[in-house]
Amino acid sequence: MDPKQLAAEKAVTFLDNGMTIGLGTGSTAYWAIEKIGEKVNKEGWKVKAIATSIRSEEQARGLGIPIVDFSSVQLIDVTIDGADEVDAQLQLIKGGGGALLREKIVATNSKQMIVVADESKWVPSLGSYPLPVEVIHFGWQRTFEKLELLGCKAERRMNGAGPYLTDNGNYIIDCAFGEIQDAPSLHESVNTITGVVDNGLFIRIATKLVLGFKNGETRIISR
Ligand code: A5P
Repeated sequence: MDPKQLAAEKAVTFLDNGMTIGLGTGSTAYWAIEKIGEKVNKEGWKVKAIATSIRSEEQARGLGIPIVDFSSVQLIDVTIDGADEVDAQLQLIKGGGGALLREKIVATNSKQMIVVADESKWVPSLGSYPLPVEVIHFGWQRTFEKLELLGCKAERRMNGAGPYLTDNGNYIIDCAFGEIQDAPSLHESVNTITGVVDNGLFIRIATKLVLGFKNGETRIISR
C-alpha cells in the first residue's frame, strides 16, 4: 500500500463515531478523508467535519461526510492533516498545497492534531522545504523584500502565467531559508512583518504523528 494511504488509514483508527473532525488538505489527507467517508457510509458513523480547503470540502461532500459551519463548533475533537516536513519535536512545515492558513485555524481549534506523512517527510531539522508564507496583495513587493531581509531566497508562487491565489484570495511567497535552527523564533519574525497573514511553521500544534513506510510499517510518535 502507498505509505501515505497507510499512514492516513492508521490515523483514522484514532477517530470515533460522533466526533467533530478537522479534514486536512493534500495527497495524504486525501486518504484519511476517503477512509472517513467509508466509516460514514459502511459503518453508519455520525460525524461532523470542517475542511481546511475548498478541495477537501468538495471531496468530503462527494463522500457524504456532513460539513458543518465553523461558527457552530466550539472545539474540534481531532484534525488529521499532512505536512511537508516534520521533525522530532513534531514541528512542521506546511502549505505546499497552499492551504496553510485554514489548516492552522482548524488545527489550533482542535483538541488533537494528528499529522499523517510518508517517511520522506521526516527530517532531522526543518528547512530543506521552502517555508510558504501567505501575504496580502497590497504592497506585496515590500513584504517580499522584508521576508528576504530575514535571510531567505523568496519566490512568489505562480499558477501558470498568473500568481497562485489561496482559498482566501491571498498570495503565497515561498521562502527558502535552508536549515532552520530556531523554528519558534523564525515563526515570530515572519509573522511580525505587516502584510504577512501567517506562515507554514506549526509549532506546538501537532499532538501525534503517524508515519507510513514503504515496507508496510507505521510508526507513531506522540507529544
Ligand atoms: C497543504 O497546504 C499542505 O500543508 C499539505 O498538508 C502538505 O503540503 C502535505 O501535502 P501532501 O500530503 O500532498 O504531501
